[in-house]
Amino acid sequence: MTTDRATADRSHEGIEVKPVAGHIGAEITGVDLAGGLDDAVVAAIRAAVLRWKVVFFRGQRLDHAGHIAFARRFGEPVVLRKRGGASTPDFPEIETTADRLELGGRFGMEHDEWLQRRRHTLLRGWHCDHGARVDPPAATILRAETVPPYGGDTTWSNLAVAYAGLSSPVREFVDGLRAEHRLGVGYQPRPGEDAYVRHLLDHQVASLHPLVRVHPETAERILYVNGYYVEQIADLSRAESAAILEMLLEQATRPEYTVRFRWEPGSVAFWDNRATIHLAPGDNAHLGFPRTMHRVMLTGDVPVGVDGKPSEPITGTEPGRW
Ligand SMILES: [Fe+2]
Repeated sequence: MTTDRATADRSHEGIEVKPVAGHIGAEITGVDLAGGLDDAVVAAIRAAVLRWKVVFFRGQRLDHAGHIAFARRFGEPVVLRKRGGASTPDFPEIETTADRLELGGRFGMEHDEWLQRRRHTLLRGWHCDHGARVDPPAATILRAETVPPYGGDTTWSNLAVAYAGLSSPVREFVDGLRAEHRLGVGYQPRPGEDAYVRHLLDHQVASLHPLVRVHPETAERILYVNGYYVEQIADLSRAESAAILEMLLEQATRPEYTVRFRWEPGSVAFWDNRATIHLAPGDNAHLGFPRTMHRVMLTGDVPVGVDGKPSEPITGTEPGRW
């Protein structure tokens, strides 16, 4: 059965896939992610992720081992060489973020200041995870442990419908283009010494990705842009690139292509990192409530463009090496 016109897909015993926005996002109920999942349930979740790009589960009781075991049903978890200080040494597949501790501690800045320097325009915060790598993760599975009583929502956008929503001459134009994605694009340094700038210079990561990638599982064309990593469209002048990128980013983040999720302790979001970008919250750090999240990412392919050409590494990245 198709989920397109249905309000709920009840094709598997107990599990329900309920879309929550017109183009992206579905809540999945009737499944205990900590229990052993049947292959049919795994297949239903996989199909829902591909169709709805991000799926949400509530009231789950996953611990770190259960989180990793769940992720393994869908792919190979990424093991990062370096993780933030809130991460536990015992589970190298899990990356833990605890707001207000993370970047403030590492770079001598409060998290809010870093956000303002990093996200000084509306579109800058939108990203896919590790998008400057030549092989960005296929998916991210993010689990909430502690969340603020208000604030701290995450928003995702569907880049397949963003592509489809362009006029046909513009689709044809962007189909053949490539863009440089680089860590730290647009960051506005502090005057004088800025430890984050030093970090960026010491850890450069950059790749040349197709501006439109063909999804390896759905074959959809994906408008592969984000505000966080994309530096420049290749072969265009600086001015042409800036104007076109702004237009494409506005398209990619139109509210009708997005879904916003209100986290609760025990919530899990599972998204296709190849077909979406997301916006981490910017409205909670000042409140002072803890927000502790655990993330497992699944390794991904090197993107391929409409012309069949793969992305190319520029610096600090090689396929499969984290
Ligand atoms: Fe992210």
